[in-house]
Amino acid sequence: MKKIFSEYFGETAREKLFKIFYYNKSKWCVLMSNSNQYNETIELINNRKTIRAYNPKSLTQEEINTIIHGAMRAPTAGNMMFYSIIQVNDQTKKDKLAILCDNQPHISKAPLVLIFLADMQRWWDYFKICKTQEICNEVDEKFETPQESDLLLACCDALIAAQNAVITAEALGIGSCYIADIMENIEILRKMLNLTRWVFPIAMLCFGYPIGNKENIPLTPRFSQKFIHFVNKYHQLSKEDFTEMFQNVKRSFNVKQAKNLGQNFYFGKLAADFSKEMRRSVKVAIKDWIS
Ligand SMILES: Cc1cc2nc3c(=O)[nH]c(=O)nc-3n(C[C@H](O)[C@H](O)[C@H](O)COP(=O)(O)O)c2cc1C
Repeated sequence: MKKIFSEYFGETAREKLFKIFYYNKSKWCVLMSNSNQYNETIELINNRKTIRAYNPKSLTQEEINTIIHGAMRAPTAGNMMFYSIIQVNDQTKKDKLAILCDNQPHISKAPLVLIFLADMQRWWDYFKICKTQEICNEVDEKFETPQESDLLLACCDALIAAQNAVITAEALGIGSCYIADIMENIEILRKMLNLTRWVFPIAMLCFGYPIGNKENIPLTPRFSQKFIHFVNKYHQLSKEDFTEMFQNVKRSFNVKQAKNLGQNFYFGKLAADFSKEMRRSVKVAIKDWIS
């Protein structure tokens, strides 16, 4: 089956001239790019899929090192690496994480589990060693501990590193799945993982070779590009835009009281217990971070 990629994503005519993609058995294939050559990296990115069923085979140390190294080559704010990565090998901890993260058994079964932490602890510990507060007092400069902006910056670093890990794994044929529920139950996670005040778990990644043929898993659709990609200024969507944007989107959740798609998504995701717990947990973490 062939389908022109540009029709699906609504690319401009100019873009169509430069890129020709076709859809073949759940795979976007690049026939031609600007340079008229097949591009393996673009093909890899276009065909990545979240993998939740893992072959139990362990990853080799070399594979794990390659994934970690890929993560560490990610861009990082000021090259300060405001993140840390915890590799969870302990099966008891993995099992507990599976429960704490909204009961997702694939976490227990993943051969490799990495938790990406937004981490300002390391730098502020170093500032202490370097007597930074003392020098600030001497020169009449206000010494500040990490604030909201530092948390967001550290989250940027951690997530960019995480995505590099995903792409590196993908290049090795290893599938991955993000788990945002790691932001829940902060008090329990702090004890379990020895997390300190200026360390926040922003994402967890499960890795493993896919079970069966990955080609058989369909790519998940995306909204049309015109609703995501704006030029020069933000465009708030109108009712008509939403009608068009959601025209091929089906209800994802079994919610009796939902009378339309928006209500279905709200009740299914944002009003679900795990979202409520995430809101509570993140509030606690931010309060402790900035206090
Ligand atoms: C921030 C983030 C959190 C996610 N959390 C979960 C999760 O808790 N459990 C899960 O199975 N998938 C999770 N996913 C995977 C998404 O469901 C998946 O990326 C989405 O359905 C699109 O599918 P694709 O990655 O195959 O394109 C998460 C993805 C992201 C980016």
